[in-house]
Amino acid sequence: MAATKTYLTGIQTSGMPHLGNYYGAIQPALAAAESNDTLYFLADYHSLNSVKDPAKLREDIRSVAATWLACGLDPERTVLYRQSGVPEVFELATILASVTAKGLMNRAHAYKAARDRNEAAGSTELDAGINMGLFNYPILMAADILVMETDVVPVGRDQAQHIEYTADIARAFNHLYGEHYSFPIPEGAYPQGEGSILPGIDGRKMSKSYDNHIPLFMPENKLKKLIRRIPTDSTPVEEPKDPDTSVPFQLLAYFADAERTEGVRKRLEAGGMGWGELKNELFEEINSRFGPMRERYDELVAPGSDLDDILEAGAQRARRRASATLAKVRRAIGID
Ligand code: TRP
Repeated sequence: MAATKTYLTGIQTSGMPHLGNYYGAIQPALAAAESNDTLYFLADYHSLNSVKDPAKLREDIRSVAATWLACGLDPERTVLYRQSGVPEVFELATILASVTAKGLMNRAHAYKAARDRNEAAGSTELDAGINMGLFNYPILMAADILVMETDVVPVGRDQAQHIEYTADIARAFNHLYGEHYSFPIPEGAYPQGEGSILPGIDGRKMSKSYDNHIPLFMPENKLKKLIRRIPTDSTPVEEPKDPDTSVPFQLLAYFADAERTEGVRKRLEAGGMGWGELKNELFEEINSRFGPMRERYDELVAPGSDLDDILEAGAQRARRRASATLAKVRRAIGID
């Protein structure tokens, strides 16, 4: 037990995850949960910076939590909670702000990108439309991580700067108060390589920002329609086709076993299969893989399900750990 590392990650609550999120984030995180101490939380106060519609925020939080549970997250093994359920996070964020250089925040990628957009739009006020929540985002994220004395943070490469900032902020704290208490310095764990990224329906990397994604638990008929809409050329059924430039084939290769994939490849190359049939195969594969999980998802998002109790129980466990850290931190800084 002594050697187990604590893994923590924050999940954005920006609507239902898609197939790319499943393979890129959810599945690896569930695998990591089998042999590590894991805490996974919904970063709902991070979402508040951009989502100002309460009904949407509420729905997104439930949808994302239900997705992870339906995909197999075991809430006994992994501590699953809402960031908002652990107020110690916000207390620590205030403490960390006092040791964080403002210049560091000025250089944060997300903040700089927002200013660059204002500049490109010809605005004279470069901070127009930027709220303090966006500016403070890296401090809140550092608090998420440090409050659980995290060792490893599995995240996408786009989060590398946030992890470096967290380490910088922890070092600044440790430098001042290390005689009394030191945070462990966390490390990011990033996905290997770019090769295995799932394509979206237009062939680019699947991403909500390209609007080319397939949501994980769409109703069956909508899933079927979406797959039918994947663009293909007008090669007739009986003509040979190149599977390697076909998006539905690339997607199929993800879900079908090797034998089935090879069978389809041969038929496409021989002119024995049309795009319509290929899309039907793809639908069947995705539907049979995710259908049972979708049923569980539908149960969990329904009002009155045990979802809220699960999140509440997770928050209780998370708070026990967070308040133990806070007690040490408060003693170290002289506010106890
Ligand atoms: N910023 C992360 C993202 O956009 C989400 C997040 C918030 C997070 N707090 C975190 C990730 C703490 C890891 C650890 O994906």
